[in-house]
Amino acid sequence: MSTGYPTGANRVRMAMIGGGPGSFIGPVHRKAAALDGLVSLCAGAFSPDPERNRETSLQLGLPPDRIHEDYEALLAREADRPAPERPEFVAIVTPNHLHAPIAAAALARGFAVLCEKPLARNLAEARDLQRAVESSGAAFAVTYTYLGYPLVHEARSIIASGGIGAIRRVVVNYTQGWLAQPVERHGNRQAAWRTSPETAGVGGALGDIGVHAQSLAEFVTGSDIAEVSADIRATFPERRLDDDGAMLLRFADGARGTLIASQICAGDENRLDLRVYGERGALHWTQESPNHLWHRAIDGPARLITANPDLLSDGGARAMTRLPGGHPEGYIEAFANLYRAFVLSLRGEEAPFMPGVREGVRSMAFIEAAIASSRANGAWQPVTG
Ligand SMILES: NC(=O)c1ccc[n+]([C@@H]2O[C@H](COP(=O)([O-])OP(=O)(O)OC[C@H]3O[C@@H](n4cnc5c(N)ncnc54)[C@H](O)[C@@H]3O)[C@@H](O)[C@H]2O)c1
Repeated sequence: MSTGYPTGANRVRMAMIGGGPGSFIGPVHRKAAALDGLVSLCAGAFSPDPERNRETSLQLGLPPDRIHEDYEALLAREADRPAPERPEFVAIVTPNHLHAPIAAAALARGFAVLCEKPLARNLAEARDLQRAVESSGAAFAVTYTYLGYPLVHEARSIIASGGIGAIRRVVVNYTQGWLAQPVERHGNRQAAWRTSPETAGVGGALGDIGVHAQSLAEFVTGSDIAEVSADIRATFPERRLDDDGAMLLRFADGARGTLIASQICAGDENRLDLRVYGERGALHWTQESPNHLWHRAIDGPARLITANPDLLSDGGARAMTRLPGGHPEGYIEAFANLYRAFVLSLRGEEAPFMPGVREGVRSMAFIEAAIASSRANGAWQPVTG
């Protein structure tokens, strides 16, 4: 049986679009892609600014003929390369409004795609992209980071095997404080594009972090959110997209839930927190302490599950750790797990779950349903993704 670890010339070739100097997630992708030695970066268009594009390309050691002035040029020239050089997939790490057009253009050139969330600016665009993915037959992944953590998979396994009984209540909160002031008016570039519908799409905090909370809740419980009732707002009159929202949830399996997605919670850093309550107990996982999962049974002492490969379930969770118990792993490793799943699926190997276009569309449906509900004073809206 193959080990699933391509080496040297066997590494999967990646072209990257976005991720220039000072950007957040592009460098995280590159570190994650490099972590297991599975992927080699072979081409890029990292920034629309030629100097910044060149700066990143030189830092990364790319030859001049693999540095492209824009994504159209990259896709056209790289598609014409002979097979041993041609990128096997394109990683899209630009602001949101470019995800769908770049992904569609990459699919049309025959590339597999690994795309950042949210999938598109709105649900209609996401559905168009879903059709393009399905008709292309190409592999397509969406990087919901938090679905790459071992203990998130452990929680899913416990629930799937009936470990806490039927799910009754889900409490998921994703709160940050970095938009507690109107920083987009004072030169914060990342805040500027995230608070503009032209570049962020229809959702503000919903698109930026709400989709992580929604996808985490759906993944761990194994149940889709069927309906949402929302109260969302922009805290500052000049801010054009939501930065603070609370939602009631009805899951397809009958569970009820609440979800908060807010970026104005001053003092919070990256507080993603999930509690799932079943008939016989509860699970609690929090992203800022990702190697701990609490299991509280109704009839016994609380149990702390740690990210110890010797003690985790045989399935997905154990294979997602790289170190013995007690050696903390975190954000980059979770991202690397997504990369590994994607690469294994590209190689036709057995791969852990990798979120794809379906999950991307569901998130866009969730955002639009929440916005429609809030506009209708909290009226329940179906989430039809
Ligand atoms: N999965 C996660 O946990 C996670 C975390 C952060 C951000 N994201 C997502 O990643 C994306 C990027 O976010 P960020 O925080 O890195 O943004 P950023 O502003 O820090 O970086 C965006 C980069 O894209 C480049 N870019 C813009 N237009 C381009 C174009 N036409 N061609 C090539 N490059 C272009 C910019 O120059 C910049 O280098 C967003 O969609 C965001 O939602 C996901």
